[in-house]
Parts: sequence; C-alpha cells; structure tokens
Amino acid sequence: MSKGVKIVTIGGGSSYTPELVEGFINRYEEFPVSELWLVDVEAGREKLDIVGNLAKRMVKKAGLPMAIHLTLDRKEALKGADFVTTQFRVGLLDARAKDERIPAKHGVIGQETNGPGGLFKGLRTIPVILDIIQDMEEHCPNAWLVNFTNPAGMVTEAVFRHTSFRKIVGLCNVPIGMEMGIAKLLEVDHSRIRIDFAGLNHMVYGLDVYQDGVSVKDKVIDMLSNPEHSSFVKNIDGQGWEVEFIRGLEALTCPYHMYYYKTDEMLKKSIESYEKGETRAEVVMKLEKELFELYKDPDLAIKPPQLAERGGAYYSDAAVRLITSIYNDKRDIQPVNTMNNGAIASVPSDSAVEVSCVITKEGPIPISVGDIPVAARGLVQQIKSFEIISTDAAVTGDYDKAMLAMTINPLVPSDVVAKKILDEMLEDHKEFLPRFFD
Ligand code: G6P
Repeated sequence: MSKGVKIVTIGGGSSYTPELVEGFINRYEEFPVSELWLVDVEAGREKLDIVGNLAKRMVKKAGLPMAIHLTLDRKEALKGADFVTTQFRVGLLDARAKDERIPAKHGVIGQETNGPGGLFKGLRTIPVILDIIQDMEEHCPNAWLVNFTNPAGMVTEAVFRHTSFRKIVGLCNVPIGMEMGIAKLLEVDHSRIRIDFAGLNHMVYGLDVYQDGVSVKDKVIDMLSNPEHSSFVKNIDGQGWEVEFIRGLEALTCPYHMYYYKTDEMLKKSIESYEKGETRAEVVMKLEKELFELYKDPDLAIKPPQLAERGGAYYSDAAVRLITSIYNDKRDIQPVNTMNNGAIASVPSDSAVEVSCVITKEGPIPISVGDIPVAARGLVQQIKSFEIISTDAAVTGDYDKAMLAMTINPLVPSDVVAKKILDEMLEDHKEFLPRFFD
C-alpha cells in the first residue's frame, strides 16, 4: 500500500481552510491525504487554533484517518511534504484595508490584485513566497507548490523571474466561478460546461464556451449583457455589459474586467464604499468575525454555508481537483497559472499566464490558443508589464521601480497621483516592506 499524502498549508488559519478540508474529505478515495499541516505565524495563532479545531472535527465526522497538525514552525511542517499550498495574507485584513482605502482617498480604485492595491500586496507577499521556496528546496525538494495567495499572477511571475524553482502552479477560483455561473445561466450541470481560457490572472478571457462539446458562445454573450447579470463572484459588484462591446470582443470577460472596461462606474462605487467605511476589506472583516464565531462552536463539524459569501467560493473544488490530477497524472483540462511557453502568442514565452492546461504529474502543459483577440492584447500586455515591474520592485526594494509600476497601472491616472499613493502606502505598510526600509 502506498503511503498517504502529506499536505502543508501555509496561512492555515485562513477562514477559507474549511473549504480546503472539505475538498480533501470529498476526494479522499482518489487522493488519500494522511497528514494535513496547517501553518501560520504568531499573529494568526488564535485563528489557526479555531479553524484547526474545526478541521479536526470535520475529519472526525467524516471518519477518515487524516491527521491534522497545527503549528507555527514552517520548516518543521515542510519536512517530507508532497504538496504545499499557500493562502496567507501578509499584514492580515488591516493591510488589505489600506490597499483599498489609500488609493480611494486619492480618487483611484485600489483593487487588491491588479490595481495599486495589487502592487502593494505583491511587494509584501513576494519576499515571503521566495523564503518559502527556499525552505521547500531544503525540506521537501520534490513537493509541488500550489499558490492561492494573491496577487496570484504576480506571485507566479515573480517565481519564474527570480528563482529557478519550477514546481509552482498558481490557482484562482475565477475560472471555475465563471463556469459555474454560466452553467447556472444555462440551467445545466457544471460538468457539461467547458471554457477555453486564456489571459492573465484576474485578466482572463473565455475564448469559447461549450455545452456538451458544442459552442454556445453567442448565446452566453447575449446573456452576459443582461443588466441583471452579476459578476459571478461575491466580491465584485458589477452589472451586465453593453452587448455590442462583448459581441465585438468575441470573448467572455472575467469579473475583474469590470474595473478596466467600466472604470468610472466601479470608481464611483469604490469611493462610495470608502466614504461609508465599507470597502471590501471592511466588509470581509465583519464577515470573518461572524465566521470565526461559528467556527468556535464545538458542535459544528462541516463547512458552514456562510463561507459562500466570500469571493473565493469553489476554491476548494478548483484546488483539490488540481492537486488530485497532478497526483494521479489525470491529464484532464483545467485553467491554471503557469509558464506561457508559447501558448499565447502575444505574451512573452517565459511569463506566467492563466490558460487552460492539460494537468499531468509533471505539471500543467498549456494548450496553445494562438492568440487572444486583438482588442484584448494591449490591456493584457499592459498588466503583464505592470506585473513584471512590480515583481522586480518587490525583490529589489527599489523605489523607482515601484513608482514605475504604480504609474503604468491602467487604473492610475498620472505620475503625480501615483507618487502620492506610493508614498503614503509605503509609509503605512512600512512594517511589512523590509526590502524598502532596511
Ligand atoms: C475572488 C478572487 C480571489 C479573491 C477573492 C476575494 O473571487 O478570485 O482571488 O481572493 O475573490 O474575496 P473576498 O471575499 O476576500 O473579497
């Protein structure tokens, strides 16, 4: 009998952990996890205890021999791991609130992944990811790293650009959320829908969409222009598209495109929520409080339905189906963040892209799409340049590079505004930016 699988989850105290545990429980037969190590830092100790105990109750209720370990010792946890997942937030939700509030104060959308907020989340996160990779190379050199930590595209890019480590896959729930949302619109089961994805993380397009193997793209495009249509994720409040726009684009957009193709409406909403003290970070802080109160209940032994109010819904499905396919060399098709290798002609071959891939035990093999529509190329390349320069800033702590990244971001109107936001954010996030201040 083969030994069970050892998983290490860094940021184990996250409120999303019950999602992941549920995913491992549901797929135990094809993916026998024998040890799940939940790792966190001192600031996350209380959350780790609460969510870790819920994880233990969930596994016990399922009657599975899956040992749950809770620890603050990352190196110890990593020894002999088969898969490492990362889902941490440097500086916790307070840092996210700054990422969203400071740009809004200067009349700019913060956007915690591809906007100015994303730059700062990247500056805080990338050095930590590089440390984790160093530890992995020492303690579990054969393990795969599956990263959910945002900005997931920038993090994957940083690893390709600044290390020789290649066993990383970046994962996001947006593609699966789009498939689920479209299945719902078409009133069919998710398993009957497939989308050909190509682009970048939070900047991905659906080049075609199939129901039982037959393209239904035109029908779906009409449906997406319905003003009642929501964005498919809970964290983005947006409405339907002008139908002529998406018909002309000939591709499906992702929820995050609302920030770039409906900038003034989204900016208005950002400023309103900033003024009311209801930015997404602030909303999530309240939600988290409620979730952790629920998690404390010793009688709770399942993932509570309230977790679906978070933007990361279905992420366990996406995560566990990916890990299971790598483990079992399934060679099925899933959208992930990996090296382009020529799959999308207009993006550099050695850059990270989000694209449909064949998932094998050697990792994802991107499916060549030729190119994304000409109308989308400029924006994708702009965001790719933003990601590349942001990763260089994160690794070097170079002020000019950070300023360049901030200024070229499509949501930032000028170099003058960029500098104001940059200086204020650097000061406010000082504690988590040692490369800029030491
Ligand atoms: C999404 C994104 C995730 C993001 C999440 C935020 O759907 O794909 O990358 O982390 O929403 O959700 P939250 O509930 O934290 O705002």
